[in-house]
Amino acid sequence: MENIIPVNSAKVPCFTTYTGAKIPAVGFGTFGSDHVSPAQMAEAVKCAIRLGYRHIDCAAVYGNEREIGVALRALYAEGAVRREDLWLTSKVWNDHHGDGDVLLSCAQTLKDLQTDYLDLMLIHWPFPNYHPPHCSVDCRNPDARPYIHENFMRVYRQLERLADMGLARHIGISNVTIPKLKLILRDCRIKPAVNEMEIHPHFQQPELYEFSREMGLLNIGYCPLGSPNRPERDKTPGDTVDMTDPVIVKIAEAHHVHPSAVCLKWAVQRGNAAIPMSCNPKNIYANLAAVCSDLLTGAEMAAIAQIDKKCRLVKGHVFLWEGAKDWNDLWDVNGIIPQ
Ligand SMILES: NC(=O)c1ccc[n+]([C@@H]2O[C@H](COP(=O)([O-])OP(=O)(O)OC[C@H]3O[C@@H](n4cnc5c(N)ncnc54)[C@H](OP(=O)(O)O)[C@@H]3O)[C@@H](O)[C@H]2O)c1
Repeated sequence: MENIIPVNSAKVPCFTTYTGAKIPAVGFGTFGSDHVSPAQMAEAVKCAIRLGYRHIDCAAVYGNEREIGVALRALYAEGAVRREDLWLTSKVWNDHHGDGDVLLSCAQTLKDLQTDYLDLMLIHWPFPNYHPPHCSVDCRNPDARPYIHENFMRVYRQLERLADMGLARHIGISNVTIPKLKLILRDCRIKPAVNEMEIHPHFQQPELYEFSREMGLLNIGYCPLGSPNRPERDKTPGDTVDMTDPVIVKIAEAHHVHPSAVCLKWAVQRGNAAIPMSCNPKNIYANLAAVCSDLLTGAEMAAIAQIDKKCRLVKGHVFLWEGAKDWNDLWDVNGIIPQ
């Protein structure tokens, strides 16, 4: 870290939400994937901010907001960054979908992150279904339910209240589909500013991506590098690997960069923010620097558009309910929300 010259955060490209807010195109992911301790993640966040990141993607369920809050406080104290220069995102976990729960979840996150507002609060998943930490892929919660729009809107109304109170400057959704998003847009009072979803070259989600964008939402892509170290429960034999795809490798060679940089350049040029995670200072730096240097050509962007393998990595098995067929039921594959 000592030998790395930070990226000038003012030079990092930004996207603008429909509300006019600027959000850095590359943020720092903080999900430890069951193998990075909260203390290690807090160190990684410190490193990321020192290296120029100003957008941090947190969540209550990642179990490390308290440690990240301590790290942020230390950075403010040493003058490395000011709170107002950061974009802090958090997410309400599935076990806080009851009446009054969203405010409680937000209060805990604010306390943990040592701040009095969030830049963005998301509903992490559109289901109230949760599972014990580190559980196996077969784990099913007997209380798990399919998507019930009325219930979801009760959660969303609470999010709108957070926005009214200024506790969350923006609100948004994550892991939704087009049918769910249509219903949410029909019934919301405050339109979500952001749609956070899985996006990487082998999982491009073009229909959801375009619909969301046409509706004025900013897409934020998670697992932008194909999440090579994701938890075992999220690995399936047919999964493909973005960073070894010959098209990505060839473009990386042409630009003299690692394939990870190609994934991130592609994301940002396509028009979405990306939130890679790393605990390695060189990778932390490279992921931000990737979007501040040379662009991919039109031909390269077109070539990457052709390598979509529709390979969803975060399938969500553990959120399934009794009677669900398989994980595809979470994603409304036929355009219908299973009940
Ligand atoms: N909304 C949601 O439901 C949701 C779901 C999943 C994830 N997320 C968010 O998205 C973030 C990113 O997802 P992710 O962490 O699963 O996947 P990812 O960012 O695609 O991949 C992270 C992995 O890639 C490696 N890596 C990072 N930079 C690299 C580089 N330059 N070269 C080679 N390897 C590199 C890292 O290992 P090293 O540490 O060794 O660099 C790390 O294990 C999460 O941290 C979380 O904030 C949100």
